[in-house]
Amino acid sequence: MEVIISKTYEEMSRAAAEMVAEVLNTKPDAVLGMATGSTPLGLYKELVRMHQAGSLDFSQVTTFNLDEYVGLPVTHPQSYHYFMHENFFRHVNIPAQNIHIPSGTTSNYRAFCAWYEQRIEEVGGIDLQILGIGSDGHIAFNEPTSSLNSRTRLKTLAKQTIEDNSRFFDNADDVPIYAITMGVGTILESACLLLVANGENKAEAMAAMVEGPVTSMITASALQLHPEATCFIDDAAASKLKMRDYYEWIQENKPDAPRFD
Ligand code: GLP
Repeated sequence: MEVIISKTYEEMSRAAAEMVAEVLNTKPDAVLGMATGSTPLGLYKELVRMHQAGSLDFSQVTTFNLDEYVGLPVTHPQSYHYFMHENFFRHVNIPAQNIHIPSGTTSNYRAFCAWYEQRIEEVGGIDLQILGIGSDGHIAFNEPTSSLNSRTRLKTLAKQTIEDNSRFFDNADDVPIYAITMGVGTILESACLLLVANGENKAEAMAAMVEGPVTSMITASALQLHPEATCFIDDAAASKLKMRDYYEWIQENKPDAPRFD
């Protein structure tokens, strides 16, 4: 796992956006996995800026979002559909039919989840999956004790997550308690993983994820099993990493490292 530490949130977001741009410049019809939450907002803003400056084209891109709250219609301001359209999709040129977001209002969750998995397979899998991390170490809505082989399914949210996410709702009681989420196993099948995390309240989860044991108690720790996982984090989120000096040493020496390509 590569850990890239930036001084600020803005710097972190720019570095992560460069990695996405690199993938799109190499493969213009790439399949991107999208994440919600406040953390990737800076990354999306930077991608929109690149697109508006004419240096990034999304016309052949396909996307799959990680998750959605159950029970929220697409018009609900806290639905992940609404979030993605407001903060990203309406500012770039991804064809509408190429955008996939789990449905929070389907009448048959089992069938929907199976279809979602099948669609990912049909388009050849996800090239780059963007991820955030919950304060309890979850990725997407794979709460502690989710199977590390899990697939897209309905999940009951942990109280910690409901509390964390209540800041976006008028009332804590309004936060849905179920979500539909890609599984850890689904996420691990992506060719590349990119995780962003900032702030003090993510420091513990980051340390557990990068340096702790691989455990379903911290589903993000499953990224240790992936050969192409990169974490872009800021100073505060890096504050509990024991091997921080080493990660910085790697980045310092990267330009001179022997190249195999
Ligand atoms: C939710 C999402 C996750 C996200 C997490 C952290 O639980 N399902 O994908 O990583 O929130 O959100 P934030 O970036 O706002 O801290």
